[in-house]
Amino acid sequence: MKSEKFELPSRKNGNGKSEFEGTLARTDSAVKVEHPSESDLPKSEPVKGRGAVHHKRTLSSFSLEGKVGVVTGGARGLGLMMSQALIISGGDLAIVDLDKQEAERQASELLATFIGENPGESRPPKITAHHADVSDSSSVESAVAEILNSHGKIDNLVTSAGFCENFEAISYPVDRIKKLWDVNVNGTYFFATAVARHLMARQAQGSMVFIGSMSGNVVNVPQPQAPYNASKAAVRHLAASFAVEWAAVGIRVNCISPGYMATELTRRILDKNPDMRKQWTALVPQGRLGKPEDLMGSVAFLLSDASQYVTGADLRVDGGYTLT
Ligand SMILES: NC(=O)c1ccc[n+]([C@@H]2O[C@H](COP(=O)([O-])OP(=O)(O)OC[C@H]3O[C@@H](n4cnc5c(N)ncnc54)[C@H](O)[C@@H]3O)[C@@H](O)[C@H]2O)c1
Repeated sequence: MKSEKFELPSRKNGNGKSEFEGTLARTDSAVKVEHPSESDLPKSEPVKGRGAVHHKRTLSSFSLEGKVGVVTGGARGLGLMMSQALIISGGDLAIVDLDKQEAERQASELLATFIGENPGESRPPKITAHHADVSDSSSVESAVAEILNSHGKIDNLVTSAGFCENFEAISYPVDRIKKLWDVNVNGTYFFATAVARHLMARQAQGSMVFIGSMSGNVVNVPQPQAPYNASKAAVRHLAASFAVEWAAVGIRVNCISPGYMATELTRRILDKNPDMRKQWTALVPQGRLGKPEDLMGSVAFLLSDASQYVTGADLRVDGGYTLT
């Protein structure tokens, strides 16, 4: 785990319940959410007195308490930092990665950090590690079964497993194009549908966040990466498509499109092309690469009930890169 320290608040904060939830009713094979009519909606009332504002330090709807979240590619980089965000927000966590050993090491370290910072906590989070190659549907099915065996349920999913390579389009090795598509696109599809099947069978609501990229919205220069750019556009549109298909059963699906973030993935590119860092940062209005922790608030928001009416959105976390 990286050396940065974060304050882990007590899991006793917040009740993890949304203030306003639709009710579930069964239709033929799937669950339908019966949305309330406008007259049923609670009237918004002004907050009375200072105490009403100050007795809580965060809105309870941002809490992930009671939720089991799965993060693919969670052993490293952005996935690891977002895993930490789930724990900080009160959730339980299943880290899924190709590298199970690293996932196990990070799971123990996350738990040790939590216990170190919350010595009196009676219920520390449950954090587990699981192997999967997300590009292989049977590997995904096995991982989901293993997680259900450990945690009993899954509520939230973050798909961060993915990779990028740079080759000129006309000489891009065909086997590498297929591998990239298999991991970035099919991997997202396989995991999301496996979790959706579980949520539908359980008649439960859930929230998913797919990690796309600014490269799914713009063409980055100077590095050539046409298949990666196309794969991330596909991830964003998968999120939108699932969001529409599953809205009626209470499953929300959103996409986060990060800009240039300082991780192992970008380090490998910058090591080969040291001058590129200057070119990249010159194009970011905020003038810096993103830090993995810049995604923590965004992912916690999209998984939590604070974003109950947000689905199919693409949240760009890129320092303004795609605006210019
Ligand atoms: N770093 C950036 O600048 C950046 C920017 C935009 C989007 N992204 C996207 O964010 C995601 C994470 O990127 P990162 O920078 O953290 O990368 P990273 O290489 O640091 O971490 C990726 C993790 O995914 C795992 N993984 C790879 N293939 C897998 C597979 N087939 N099955 C299961 N796990 C697998 C790896 O073992 C690793 O732990 C990727 O989808 C990437 O495209 C990254």
